Amino acid sequence: MTHSASQAPPHGALHRLLGHPTDLAGHIETHGPLQVASRGEASWRAALMTSLEASGLAGRGGGGFPSSIKLGVVGAAGAGGTIVINGMESEPASDKDKLLLLRAPHLVLDGAQYLAAVCRASRIVMCIPAGRDTVAVAVRHAITERRTARYARVAEEMVRPPDGFVSGEESALVNFIERGLSLPVFRPDKGSPLRIGRRAALVHNTETLAHIALIARHGHEPFRARGMAEEPGTCLVTIGGAVARPGVVEVDRGVPLCDIVALGTPVDSPQAYLVGGYGGTWVAPPHFATPYASMSLRTIGATAGVGVIVVLGPAACGVAESARITRYLAGQSAGQCGPCVYGLPAVADDLALLARGSADGGLMARLHRRLGEIRGRGACRHPDGAVNLVASALNVFAADVDAHLAGTPCARSHAPTSLRFPQAVAI
Ligand SMILES: Cc1cc2nc3c(=O)[nH]c(=O)nc-3n(C[C@H](O)[C@H](O)[C@H](O)COP(=O)(O)O)c2cc1C
Ligand code: SF4
Repeated sequence: MTHSASQAPPHGALHRLLGHPTDLAGHIETHGPLQVASRGEASWRAALMTSLEASGLAGRGGGGFPSSIKLGVVGAAGAGGTIVINGMESEPASDKDKLLLLRAPHLVLDGAQYLAAVCRASRIVMCIPAGRDTVAVAVRHAITERRTARYARVAEEMVRPPDGFVSGEESALVNFIERGLSLPVFRPDKGSPLRIGRRAALVHNTETLAHIALIARHGHEPFRARGMAEEPGTCLVTIGGAVARPGVVEVDRGVPLCDIVALGTPVDSPQAYLVGGYGGTWVAPPHFATPYASMSLRTIGATAGVGVIVVLGPAACGVAESARITRYLAGQSAGQCGPCVYGLPAVADDLALLARGSADGGLMARLHRRLGEIRGRGACRHPDGAVNLVASALNVFAADVDAHLAGTPCARSHAPTSLRFPQAVAI
């Protein structure tokens, strides 16, 4: 199910991602041809850079980093680089990128073309996980349409990294494109660009690129007219869990969490929201009206993360659900860094004991110590997400944790999960 938080305006009059034509003919009819200047036109490139900076667009892949800064770093690294479209959507609770690629693939590919023109890249690579064939077929069809119509300025191709939670991490994608290895790479200097060979690579989330395509064509004002002054624009959010109408919505940045959840029609009074995906943060009812924006979420210890809100219904157990998610995340380690490889399964084991009401006297001290030891110690931020999730669970479900510690977990801990897991997860 897909529904939009706003009524359909004429294209271009209002910045929005959903509701664009899927085929190339419709795309061109709506937006006109790709308005990319020849590679030599420095003034055109500078104007687009300025527009992106003025838009205030931040990446929608989880990190929320300003797009104009990333573009500036890669642009300064010289011509001949690669634009990587991160279509991996490795977060199990998220559907927004799949939806965009199925409904508006040309918008996403156009975003990459505009960036390629600005930083004089010579290659665009779309990453779709192996096994996600419906999306891959749609993307391949779009790339073929563009090639046949001689629409694409820079060559577009698709690669299929393995499907896994960590495969969508940007250094893992670059590693896969260069060496066929889907493994994150330790980068001491995060300020320097990723590289494929000796050339720079710019990795962007699918949704971020669709925003860039609209900003490049229509300017930054329509984008800034949505959302908040300090965090402008719309964003896609996947609503799941205990709701009658799960799906993807497009909302202005800054809309209260509970208003977004209302679009999915909760089946009962929610017990908590999981904001930002499986590496995100549990949010308790007193904070349900928090604006969906990084600064506001930070004040309650949360981040927007990936555009996901999972609703925990009153019949579920937050401790048991957190134990399931942690077990899943522990199984997704890329197997390179000790704190992630050994630490996450140990945390998952302790949470499973807690969920079953079988905790020993030292469990909580051990759990807190391990969380502290794991945080910030991986080559990628995968373990940090898991640590955040567990820390927020211990806080938001503190009363349940006490009952579980006393060996008296309630019947809710046996309730079937309403979360999504690609593989069976036992606790
Ligand atoms: C474990 C892990 C998994 C990730 N998976 C994805 C993913 O599936 N899709 C995505 O766009 N970003 C993912 N990211 C974030 C990317 O590393 C990167 O920050 C993002 O693609 C940058 O795009 P943006 O600037 O448009 O947000 C992941 C990060 C981590 C640490
Ligand atoms: S932190 Fe974990 S997932 Fe990330 S590179 Fe190291 S072992 Fe792999």
